[in-house]
Amino acid sequence: MPRHVRGWRAARPVVLFALLATAGPSAAAPAEPLVANPDGRRTTSLDGDWRTIVDPYENGYYNYRYEPARYGYFANAKPRTPADLVEYDFDRSPVLAVPGDWNSQRESLLFYEGTIWYKRSFDDPRQSDGSRLFVWFGAANYRARVWLNGDKLGEHEGGFTPFNFEITDQLRPRDNFLVVQVDNRRLREGVPTLNTDWWNYGGLTRGVLLLELPRTFIRAYHVQLAPGSRDRLAGWVRLDGPRRAGRTVRLEIPAAGVRHTATSDSGGFAELSLDADLELWSPDSPRRYRVVLATETDRVEEEIGFRTLATRGSRILLNGEPVFLRGISLHEEAPWRAGRAHGRDDARRLLGWARELGANFVRLAHYPHNRFMVDEAERLGLMVWAEIPVYWTIDWANPRTWEVAAGQLTELIERDRNRAAVVLWSVGNETPPSAERLDFMRRLVERARALDPTRLVTAALERRYLDERTLLIDDPLGEQLDVVGCNEYVGWYDGQPAKADGLVWRTAWDKPLVMSELGGGALAGLHGEAGERWTEEYQEELYRRQVAMLRKIPFLAGLSPWILVDFRSPRRPLPGIQDYWNRKGLLSPEGRKKKAFFVLQSWYSELAGGAATGGEGR
Ligand code: GCU
Repeated sequence: MPRHVRGWRAARPVVLFALLATAGPSAAAPAEPLVANPDGRRTTSLDGDWRTIVDPYENGYYNYRYEPARYGYFANAKPRTPADLVEYDFDRSPVLAVPGDWNSQRESLLFYEGTIWYKRSFDDPRQSDGSRLFVWFGAANYRARVWLNGDKLGEHEGGFTPFNFEITDQLRPRDNFLVVQVDNRRLREGVPTLNTDWWNYGGLTRGVLLLELPRTFIRAYHVQLAPGSRDRLAGWVRLDGPRRAGRTVRLEIPAAGVRHTATSDSGGFAELSLDADLELWSPDSPRRYRVVLATETDRVEEEIGFRTLATRGSRILLNGEPVFLRGISLHEEAPWRAGRAHGRDDARRLLGWARELGANFVRLAHYPHNRFMVDEAERLGLMVWAEIPVYWTIDWANPRTWEVAAGQLTELIERDRNRAAVVLWSVGNETPPSAERLDFMRRLVERARALDPTRLVTAALERRYLDERTLLIDDPLGEQLDVVGCNEYVGWYDGQPAKADGLVWRTAWDKPLVMSELGGGALAGLHGEAGERWTEEYQEELYRRQVAMLRKIPFLAGLSPWILVDFRSPRRPLPGIQDYWNRKGLLSPEGRKKKAFFVLQSWYSELAGGAATGGEGR
């Protein structure tokens, strides 16, 4: 009997609202609940050149204690008289492009960790009287403080999730100045914490939009199949504004002949529950429907796919059929320009490589990627493992750290809850077992299920040797998960490639296993004997031995080898080989395929041809 993800009743809208009302990660002024689907609104982009001030001592925030409101950088001060002393001037300061990390835009900022101030001016763009205006940020790594016209809007912590502030009341007709202080310094109590194996790209790394919305508008919505059903839609709509109570909400899916209405309650919530005859989304047929939600004052639409998810023993079921996840891991990096990926073109190029590999699945590691990566994956028919950066040795006993992690998980789910491609929410990666860690992660799993009972929950766990031939996955966190992820580096950190030959794998649960990392390094174009580290031949041999080992694991439901393409890391200095790049990519930063690429591609081609379920095709 398939084990469906938790029953829909678990996510009563009132629970969601309570969670969201407390979700904001920052201890200061928590960011407001997200406005869903920004691209479906009336928007004004603030992308482009922003004036910036590099400020390693936070001079612009602290040094003006004597009259901060007048002289802090957030005040965008100008001398009032010839004698007035103002030691900065945004309008004569250098620019940085937004979206974009600062590290890859200026050589002097490549390793910079500190604060940079951004300033952008704009006129009130509203076209309708009485409408409301929000500023929506795709992400800012790692902490952001935001002001408009010198007034503090709030703060946000977490480098990879969107946040927004209403600015209706602070607006003036012309020359509004938006100032953002971004600070990418790593924190012991941060999420991630001090140590990571990726570049600490700082800045307004994703786009910034102004959203014009009616006084009462559709703030958020969930429109997906009810867990365990192929023909019943379940969801909700959350209205915001003075006339949110007792409103008629219309749901239309024209291509499916769906026209449905519901009425919002006193809090502005309208629950949706209706039959629908839909062609289901899958990697082989990534069907999406134009979905329209409307009230008498607002209208928003979005391309949404519908599919069912469940597990049965060690199988993952997509639309009721076992599916094998032929995956690959990716960082959110455009290696051809050595900076953060952020736009749709970047997503198409990276995911195009994954499709060339024969993948039907991508692990977007180790943090929420930008919305275009997820949308493009869905359009291309790639299932997605989405993840928050609860990575390695997090400060487990710190309540604020949990708030930050839970806030990022909430924002990830709020942003992507209608993306059929997202099949797995991952609450972390390679976190060392302890009582505090188990409690921290268990509560994150509960938070994920409370916010979204329609998807599977996972995490990348460690394994251990029972004896020299037997590897066991029995991390107690696995008990909480729907799907067990496991990272292993047999042949790289753990012996030579031939070590994989005689190994046997065990698991403590009758649950699907996704081998969420495996692999080894090679410098593209470096050739030699298969026993010689860093050659393409070594990596190729490692993948050959790994594939032979993986074929023998009966409870394996998928894999996402580490990693699609080489990526920058401050932990990889080996001159002439790494030069601050992690070389485990199957492609070089320029997109050159290494020999190991074709080993995995060959197996995926075989799996795609066969009945891609447990046992067959391995
Ligand atoms: C770990 C970790 C990755 C890291 C990889 C490596 O498994 O999850 O983030 O990049 O090992 O060492 O290359």
